[in-house]
Amino acid sequence: PLYIAAPTVIPSKMASIKVLAESPNLLGSIPSDYAYSMNHYTPLASDQEDSIPIIDYSLLTSGSPDQRSKVIDKLGKACEEWGFFLLVNHGVPKTLIDEVFDASNEFFNLSEEEKQNFDGKNALDPIRCGTSFHNARMGKILLWRDYLKVIAHPDFHFPDKPAGFSKLSLEYCERTRTVARELLKGITKSLGLEESDMDNALNLDSGLQLFAVNLYPPCPQPELAIGIPPHTDHGLVTLLIQNEVQGLEVQHNGKWVNVEAPPNSFMVNTSDHLEIFSNGKYKSVKHRALVNSKTTRISLVTPYGPSLDTIVRPASKLVDSETHPAAYIPMEYKAYVEQQQNTRLGAKSCLECVRVQEQ
Ligand code: OGA
Ligand code: NI
Repeated sequence: PLYIAAPTVIPSKMASIKVLAESPNLLGSIPSDYAYSMNHYTPLASDQEDSIPIIDYSLLTSGSPDQRSKVIDKLGKACEEWGFFLLVNHGVPKTLIDEVFDASNEFFNLSEEEKQNFDGKNALDPIRCGTSFHNARMGKILLWRDYLKVIAHPDFHFPDKPAGFSKLSLEYCERTRTVARELLKGITKSLGLEESDMDNALNLDSGLQLFAVNLYPPCPQPELAIGIPPHTDHGLVTLLIQNEVQGLEVQHNGKWVNVEAPPNSFMVNTSDHLEIFSNGKYKSVKHRALVNSKTTRISLVTPYGPSLDTIVRPASKLVDSETHPAAYIPMEYKAYVEQQQNTRLGAKSCLECVRVQEQ
């Protein structure tokens, strides 16, 4: 007999990856739509000589002037050489973080019908919840993750279930926003600018903060599937914390480095608009999320960026038409976000659209 593989049909409403992962029909293998690659799964231990920088936040906010200036130098180096660092002593209470993880878990345990009520379709809808990425039809492969993504600032939006999740998340977003803004002040200073230059140029008082919760259930073939493929984030910096289950990798000197974060530390990556604002001095770092076969991984992700109506361009003090011409063309942040979200993952990055081509 001749067997013909059934064509792949992505139903208009896909089952969550949670439902799929818990289904007894999987029998140790994943559907072909989730097969990303045969050879991306090459976790590399980080090199002892060149390990991920660790920044002590308390020195930035309450250190002596000398400690503060040293940590700002270190922050600048981390942004330039890695685009990534681990943040310790950040002051966000562990009890709050634990409660947000517990409530996130409860959220994903809501029935599929309940979660569908929160399913916005467009990049800037205030509440979106779903599986894979927001426009699954645009990609060929599906991602081994479910997500909830909200706009947290300048206005806070959140699902009303489960009870208490919204209140906890509001506090979490306020706390992480304070940390992000302090970091951005230090980073601005490390560029040789006045601390307030970025706040003023990018209207950070009404900056866009997103809050995303990613759920990566155990996957029977983690070497085939992917949680999130390589990408950069669109904002200025992103703070990420995980439920102590590893999976994040960052690209460094052309290699993928597996991030081993100490418990309760934030993983911070620099993003597209920091690259643009710094006129290319700080690079937006590529990163990806792998999955594993044993434990559910949850990440809490809070990107912070300019206000949506800001036209972003390199900081004027970093541009000199003779020696340092602007390497990026001005673009409204809102237009950038919309364009990025409509770009198929794996396609040319949105940064390429604003980068001035070398003559
Ligand atoms: C993201 C992201 C990685 C992770 O949400 O943009 O890069 O480990 N997440 O969840
Ligand atoms: Ni990301």
